[in-house]
Amino acid sequence: MASRFAFHPACGAALALIFATAGGVAADAPVPSVRQVVLSPHAASDLMRDKVEPFVSKHCQSCHRKDKTKGELHLTRYATERDVTADFRRWKNIADFIRNGEMPPEDEPQPSIDERQGVLAAIEAIMLTEAKRNAGDPGAVLPSSLSELGNRIRGMIRSQIRKG
Ligand code: HEC
Repeated sequence: MASRFAFHPACGAALALIFATAGGVAADAPVPSVRQVVLSPHAASDLMRDKVEPFVSKHCQSCHRKDKTKGELHLTRYATERDVTADFRRWKNIADFIRNGEMPPEDEPQPSIDERQGVLAAIEAIMLTEAKRNAGDPGAVLPSSLSELGNRIRGMIRSQIRKG
């Protein structure tokens, strides 16, 4: 991966590139192609409504809502992509918890691989929007998030497989 990444205005093109890269690294076990989760270039504006909110309401909000903030995390207060990008570090942490299978807690019903992939791809896409805004900034978050993405998704798939 080149250390400097020129942004194409179409966020979808960038995403397609990332997922193609991630998918190109052979996994140890047969897994659904990472390419299958590539998002349409025009889906960005609906990612919160279509992907993140349904996942949170199904799997997280029983413990992380306004009147019940386990770990002092109130997830339903994030309604728009802007809310997410404004709290970038927290969402990176949230994505890590989902990817590693640490949340929901193991004694709770677990999301399917597709659900996890879908929500992680959506969170990453939202973060890419933010990174794109910072593209002129040499210290921008994007390069690391690009190179980490493939590993993250593969790690997430592996941990799902281990859980069987
Ligand atoms: C059954 C209750 C329950 C559910 C459901 C649940 N969590 Fe949690 N979560 C907790 C508790 C309790 C903590 C704090 C203690 C801990 O870290 O284990 C926590 C902590 C966290 C933290 C760490 C907060 C911090 O910064 O310290 C994150 C991130 C998180 N949860 C995300 C999620 C996400 C995302 C989901 C949905 C996929 C989810 N949780 C579903 C109970 C839950």
